[in-house]
Amino acid sequence: MDFTKLAEQIKTVGFENYLGRYVPTKTRDKLLEMNAYDIEKLYNKIFPGIVNAEGETEWDMMWLYYRAAWYDLFTELDLPLDMNIYEIATGDTICVPQALDIYSAGHGKYVTLNLNKELSLSFTTKTKDMAIYIRLIEDNGTNILNYYDDGTFNVVAFQHAINDIVQTIVSDAVGIDTLNTNWWETEPQMLRAVYSSFKEGKLKGIAYDPFINIIKVCYKSLKNGGYMIFNNFTRRANYEELGYSSKFHSNYINMARDWIAEANLGLEEIEIDGYDKKWWMVLRK
Ligand SMILES: C[S@@+](CC[C@H](N)C(=O)[O-])C[C@H]1O[C@@H](n2cnc3c(N)ncnc32)[C@H](O)[C@@H]1O
Repeated sequence: MDFTKLAEQIKTVGFENYLGRYVPTKTRDKLLEMNAYDIEKLYNKIFPGIVNAEGETEWDMMWLYYRAAWYDLFTELDLPLDMNIYEIATGDTICVPQALDIYSAGHGKYVTLNLNKELSLSFTTKTKDMAIYIRLIEDNGTNILNYYDDGTFNVVAFQHAINDIVQTIVSDAVGIDTLNTNWWETEPQMLRAVYSSFKEGKLKGIAYDPFINIIKVCYKSLKNGGYMIFNNFTRRANYEELGYSSKFHSNYINMARDWIAEANLGLEEIEIDGYDKKWWMVLRK
């Protein structure tokens, strides 16, 4: 979804009751006071692929973008209200269940497999009052078929998750614990481990097989005609300060696209207006 469409939706009567529902009141009031042109201009400034958001309002706007984009995709792909979504590597990010809650008027079902213990607990706390069915399973996403049959889900969601999956694979390989530690304290170490393996030409050797295995399992878990949807924006322009690389991070969708194409699984990429292929990828089974 592009920012022109998002700004128009923010200015649509009834915004408060659908897309605006999870926007904190202060930010919602600010957006309602602005005109569509200024909202679009601000989005272009804070979120041109690499996030430049500063302060509460701008971060709230970024989460609104994600929620609105998922909602918009459900609409564009004409998904049923009682759809099943499987999200992998959610941490405590809740924009996908929020979008499903708004879209499905309480009828959707949402399952996530997530590893880090603190983030799983935080996810459960944040989603406890939502109307849709939500189940979090503390397990590796590759094990989804231990819990659900083949062909269960309409959508498998990778909300900013390719990097988390690759970071976890590389961390396992080099002995960094990502399950029982604070994710954010450990992350700089993970980022450096991923980037070192990339610079040494070892990343694909370490990560390709386990990553493609996850994609294969997700493929099986999808209904025929179902979608695997990925986004991977870059949260900081200055990752170099951490011994990491914003340029490397900004290539995650392309890297996953190449790896998935090489695996030749029979997934078809769908192009949707307003979804830049550098940051989004929509694949149909
Ligand atoms: C920072 S959070 C992710 C948040 C969300 N994807 C986002 O960026 O908005 C990272 C989470 O991904 C989880 N994770 C990484 N690889 C995973 C896998 N293969 N299966 C399940 N969870 C995984 C980690 O354990 C952690 O809880």
